[in-house]
Amino acid sequence: MKSGSVFCEVEECSGLAENVFSIWLKADREILAAAQPGRFLHILCPEGSLLRRPISICQTQGDMLRLVFEVKGEGTRWLSRRRRGDSLDILGPLGSGFDLSGGPLLLAGGGIGAAPLLFCAQMKRCDAVLGFASGQKAVLLSEFASACDGAEFSSDDGSLGRRAYVTELLEERLRSGGYKGVLACGPEPMLRIAAGLCRDYSVPLQVSLEQRMGCGVGACLVCSCRIVKDNREGYARVCRDGPVFRASEVVWDD
Ligand SMILES: Cc1cc2nc3c(=O)[nH]c(=O)nc-3n(C[C@H](O)[C@H](O)[C@H](O)COP(=O)(O)OP(=O)(O)OC[C@H]3O[C@@H](n4cnc5c(N)ncnc54)[C@H](O)[C@@H]3O)c2cc1C
Ligand code: FES
Repeated sequence: MKSGSVFCEVEECSGLAENVFSIWLKADREILAAAQPGRFLHILCPEGSLLRRPISICQTQGDMLRLVFEVKGEGTRWLSRRRRGDSLDILGPLGSGFDLSGGPLLLAGGGIGAAPLLFCAQMKRCDAVLGFASGQKAVLLSEFASACDGAEFSSDDGSLGRRAYVTELLEERLRSGGYKGVLACGPEPMLRIAAGLCRDYSVPLQVSLEQRMGCGVGACLVCSCRIVKDNREGYARVCRDGPVFRASEVVWDD
């Protein structure tokens, strides 16, 4: 990883779905070599705050790298207004990514959590279950359909695929057996349910956690989360020790 921040040129910024955008960035060889599924870029979004915003790498192609993000506040709104030729001040790739060894693996994504999982599917053939609030919010469907063996989609309101939560699709896949690991990204309640299901079916689960961040490099402790290791509870930094953790090590709040 580069020790300081660098500028990357925006190749394209476009809307994908309601409030969801895709940015392709030109990246140098060092950044591309350090890009791994689950790792993120810490991006300076000057609007509103001087804090950077963490966004996972969604995929790489040639000398470009893609981010897919939902507009939540000032920072991501600013990001969505970038245009071809603009520069982004980025730190990274940061954090530790998904372990893609072994298999067969199942990807389980909720909403915008699908974004980093596409990078997993790009690196290794996996199955996938993805759930969205509605068809209007759904993204990356054709990319998953072509990158994955059995991609299945659901929506909370039935406007896309089956009317079901993604955790219901996950449980069906776990019941049918055969998976040696599940990789998940999505809202915290979804990850908590996924952790319980994978524990019940004895399938190792890796989760990408979201936490508000400051420095992004392990110095400020803003991003602490509770974990259990060797039967002892302690704190980990999502930015540096994660964002990907073994679900069995995460302390899930009720
Ligand atoms: C490792 C990591 C990877 C991420 N990858 C993606 C991604 O690929 N695509 C994507 O759309 N989003 C991703 N996020 C979430 C994204 O960083 C936040 O949505 C963004 O920072 C919000 O900034 P904002 O200025 O637009 O909103 P703000 O005005 O700062 O906040 C708006 C809302 O978003 C919440 N929020 C702010 N920062 C975070 C945060 N870091 N994590 C979770 N919620 C937050 C706030 O609590 C508030 O409710 C990721 C977060 C982490 C920690
Ligand atoms: S954001 Fe500063 S330690 Fe994680």
